Amino acid sequence: MAGRPLSCGRLATLTFAAVLLQIIGLLLFVFGFFPVNPALPGISGAESYRMPTCDDSFETDNGNLLPEQLGSLYRDMSQIPSTFDRIILMVIDGLPAEFLIGRGDQPSQNSMWEAMPYTHSLLSKQRAIAYHAKAAPPTVTMPRLKAMVSGAIGGFLDVAFNFNTQAFLDDNLLDHFYRIGWKLIMFGDNTWTKLFPSLFTRDDGVSSFYVKDTVEVDFNVSRHLEAELAASDWKLMILPYLGVDHVGHIGGRHSLLMAPKLKEMDDVIKMIHIHSSLNGDDHGRRMLLVVVSDHGMTESGNHGGSSYEETDSLAVFIDLQSQSPIYAPSMRREVFQVFNDKVVFGKTNELVTLTLKQRPMTYWSFDEHKLRALELNSWQLLRLLQVHLPGLLCGDMMDAVNGKQALLPYENLGNMAVKLEGLYSKARIAHAHWKLHLHDSSLA
Ligand SMILES: *[C@@H]1O[C@H](CO)[C@@H](O)[C@H](O)[C@H]1NC(C)=O
Repeated sequence: MAGRPLSCGRLATLTFAAVLLQIIGLLLFVFGFFPVNPALPGISGAESYRMPTCDDSFETDNGNLLPEQLGSLYRDMSQIPSTFDRIILMVIDGLPAEFLIGRGDQPSQNSMWEAMPYTHSLLSKQRAIAYHAKAAPPTVTMPRLKAMVSGAIGGFLDVAFNFNTQAFLDDNLLDHFYRIGWKLIMFGDNTWTKLFPSLFTRDDGVSSFYVKDTVEVDFNVSRHLEAELAASDWKLMILPYLGVDHVGHIGGRHSLLMAPKLKEMDDVIKMIHIHSSLNGDDHGRRMLLVVVSDHGMTESGNHGGSSYEETDSLAVFIDLQSQSPIYAPSMRREVFQVFNDKVVFGKTNELVTLTLKQRPMTYWSFDEHKLRALELNSWQLLRLLQVHLPGLLCGDMMDAVNGKQALLPYENLGNMAVKLEGLYSKARIAHAHWKLHLHDSSLA
């Protein structure tokens, strides 16, 4: 039996449905692949140290300040004294945190102790503190580096750009260091020089293209160490090592090359630590060594999307001069999750706390400074929320601060904006009480 011939009307309906389906598909693709990245416009300035208001305008007129003047302006406004004067940032590409600090409650395996004895002993003697950092996918190098320096997670579009890296123009930490007159130097993965072509006083880019190369990529970095540790002009030294990632890509986590490679990284940490403890700093300046990885690796050493093995990355902080550093081992925070990822609210002692993004809080010995840092952080998040919820801070916010609304349990509050304003008022009241208490006890 022959099928019925398509009538004109049926054909039109079918065509229309097909076109509609295609448009829906295209929209899905566009919004999935090119996510709108919610970020604050422009470059942050002195306004970061002021409480955001309803009609926050982002004009800053610090343009004519000298770098040193800008630096001291920021220092004064932040009200937090700096604990360190110089930083070494060692980025070990692809090192899973599991290798150093184990998984869950399990400590790291014996073979890892043997592979990285010095770093393990620093950790066990509490001369260093380590965190699990959670890398947001996509976990390829370039978007991860951008996330680290800017606090904004990358989109999947960045993966396409990974091989054709352009200079990075968004607001980021390195530009801010440069703007306040820091000298920056970089030896290693040339992705950094591509992202920041004019920031570094001295650099030696190592090509990340030959994944088979596990020796020269790291040798080219370490060969600069001795001279640069003796130099005193720089403030931030970046050392991105690629070898561990390359070993993983060739032979997986259990490759025969892995243990010697980890030992090599351990020796670098040992050399930097011993050099600084022996020689100190001629000018009495304190130095911080930060060892991080941009992502982990799967059993086979590949990129594993958003699996635990792949996103479990490391952040270690080592105070290079002090014998008894002020660490707070009980504090664990996800360091690399970012401002605009998600805001997590929880309640402790009536004080609304925000999960801290990017700013580890371990070094400030005084609660006053910690609280100030939290305050600055909450202002930053509020500014970001203002972009999404126009009208935030414009309504009854200030009345709320004065009482009424803050007494309501926040679950009972209506929509998101009202809820957030309620939470914020609570935090402000708690903050004010706390400060008062601090003041009283310092008088007593
Ligand atoms: C390491 O440095 C040498 C000499 O400067 C250079 O020829 C070589 O290409 C570098 N290796 C990598 C992987 O960039």
